[in-house]
Amino acid sequence: MGKVFVFEHPLIQHKLTYIRDKSTGTKEFRELVDEISTLMAFEITRDLPLQEIEVETPVQLAKTNVLAGKKMAIVPILRAGIGMVDGILKLIPAAKVGHIGLYRDPETLQPVEYYFKMPSDVQERELIVVDPMLATGGSAIEAVNSLKKRGAVKIRFMCIIAAPEGVEALQKAHPDVDIYIAALDEKLNEKGYIVPGLGDAGDRLFGTK
Ligand code: URA
Repeated sequence: MGKVFVFEHPLIQHKLTYIRDKSTGTKEFRELVDEISTLMAFEITRDLPLQEIEVETPVQLAKTNVLAGKKMAIVPILRAGIGMVDGILKLIPAAKVGHIGLYRDPETLQPVEYYFKMPSDVQERELIVVDPMLATGGSAIEAVNSLKKRGAVKIRFMCIIAAPEGVEALQKAHPDVDIYIAALDEKLNEKGYIVPGLGDAGDRLFGTK
């Protein structure tokens, strides 16, 4: 079963309060999502492998560590996932970025892929799929299906707010995918919104309605 990590860092929790607030406007909302994503990237990279090298300090030779150069890619689910990308790239600037576009078929209510563009070596990369909200889990499950179909094997999922229903569905469909979240909320309402949540993340990021 995939593990669930809730990032309880005070800075993340503080900023989360303000993106939940309905009086927070588009500019501030976007900045806060960006900052939360950077802080989450700091937490998610704790297990990156290091390699020892030697450098000459002004005093003497020192054995010290650098990143071992693990190849990573960030994969936002369109459109709201885009709001998390720049914040993560601030800490992992060499990561490639792939995009997955999904829409919900009005008849079957199932997510359907309309856009998929990945780095050519997606099979070798460690992938972080990002979407601010994990609601029913439908889009996250389909995004991971799409990546696995193209040979991806190392996949993690990161969102800001998750509903228990979405976590359970994603864990069941993809037990190999660990889930990283800033807040695990109460439930989904009858319209599929996370409660208490923050409303529609895409609309709040891009100022649409
Ligand atoms: N997507 C959103 O943007 N918000 C929700 O509450 C659920 C899904």
